[in-house]
Amino acid sequence: MDRIHVVGNIPLQGKCKIQGSKNASLPILAACLLTEGTTGLYRCPRIRDVQSMFSLLQSLGCSVFRTKDAVMVDSTGALFCGDRFCSVEVTGMRSSLCLLGAMIGRFGRAVLDYPGGCVIGARPIDLHLKMLGEMGVVFSEEEGVLHACAKHLRGARLVLPFPSVGATENVILAAVAAEGDTTLIGAAREPEVTALCHFLSDCGAKIEGIGTDCLHVEGGHRLFGTDYAIPADRIVAGTYFFACIGAGGQIFLEDAPWQEMENVLAVGKAFGAKICTNHRGLYVQGPDRPKAIGTLFTDVYPGFPTDLQSMVLVTAAVAEGETRIREQIFENRFQVSEELQRMGADIRLLDEKTVLVRGTDRLTGTPVRARELRGGAALVGAGVLARGETVVGGCEFIERGYERICADYRELGVRITGA
Ligand code: EPZ
Repeated sequence: MDRIHVVGNIPLQGKCKIQGSKNASLPILAACLLTEGTTGLYRCPRIRDVQSMFSLLQSLGCSVFRTKDAVMVDSTGALFCGDRFCSVEVTGMRSSLCLLGAMIGRFGRAVLDYPGGCVIGARPIDLHLKMLGEMGVVFSEEEGVLHACAKHLRGARLVLPFPSVGATENVILAAVAAEGDTTLIGAAREPEVTALCHFLSDCGAKIEGIGTDCLHVEGGHRLFGTDYAIPADRIVAGTYFFACIGAGGQIFLEDAPWQEMENVLAVGKAFGAKICTNHRGLYVQGPDRPKAIGTLFTDVYPGFPTDLQSMVLVTAAVAEGETRIREQIFENRFQVSEELQRMGADIRLLDEKTVLVRGTDRLTGTPVRARELRGGAALVGAGVLARGETVVGGCEFIERGYERICADYRELGVRITGA
């Protein structure tokens, strides 16, 4: 898909089913490297990053294929390849970094190109290296290639100075394979970390404190393949949720994991939305025009997710009044503002981390270009709200995380095509 064409400014109406979570699928796929036998993963989204993870696992000798309902992974034949592998996949996707913990757990060593991902800040990996280093992993870097070796991978008492999602996942992946117990204090509590812990527990791992900031992992238990349903994607659900609040109308988001979206729903209510939840999903009714929400801070879970910050920018752009948004997780996550300004949004950068959005009563469709995943999805959302036609280029970024953004919006009544 090169471009998305959307003709906006009509209230949303209808329902769509929320896909499986990208950020839960990726570390769980990496975890399959640590298991014996076959794993069946249900609701594993058909997105670019997942496809890249398949290639990485396959190049390590794992069998990975899709059936009608599931992704089947069997790591029995996995072998360490001395050369760095599939460098396009590694440098193009940050979550290849999850393979670090999984490869160390499986092979006692790893070789990776410095992992890439969306251009949303410097994104260092010092915490990953520090935590794994304390578990006995020795790192070296040669010409941008990271070498890791653990002659003796051992459990440890670790304190994370910041609850990094990726570093927490890497520690868990190494800890289940290490000799002895690991206690991780200051762990990230994101639902995707919880999903990884539940998956590994289903495989036979012993993990206590799941969902808290203190995890205790008993290392060395044999892990066996299992069947597991990937949780629904809270960020995709949030994307359509804020689109409806900006555009008006009423929609039902089937399977939306609203239990993990407390702060997101609170922001939706502050914009003036009416919300109902039940065991099947999330119902939202947008106001005639959203009201500005004062000041919003992004934060680690359970705070407001940075991955929805761009989409809130869009809704705030058409709200009545002024909204300040402070990005506390990543620097460089306001890149989309420039494109939104071309659609008529009044967004000013107050400092590196804060923007002021003065709501206008209309955005106007125009050609825009996605430069990263969540900003790209927000541009499509802006097109849904805008008068006239919006053409979004750079769709390869959006395809990294959204399985069927055009089909979903069509089910919600939007005139949208992707080609
Ligand atoms: C995960 O990234 C997600 N990616 C991101 O989603 C999400 O935005 C982020 O968590 C925060 O929720 C995946 O799960 C694949 P972090 P991750 O380590 O693990 C700094 C999306 O759009 N930091 O919690 O990379 C880092 O620079 C993506 O789906 C260090 O300083 O996030 C950042 O400022 C984008 N040193 C902050 O911590 C480190 O060693 C949060 O990073 C690691 C991180």
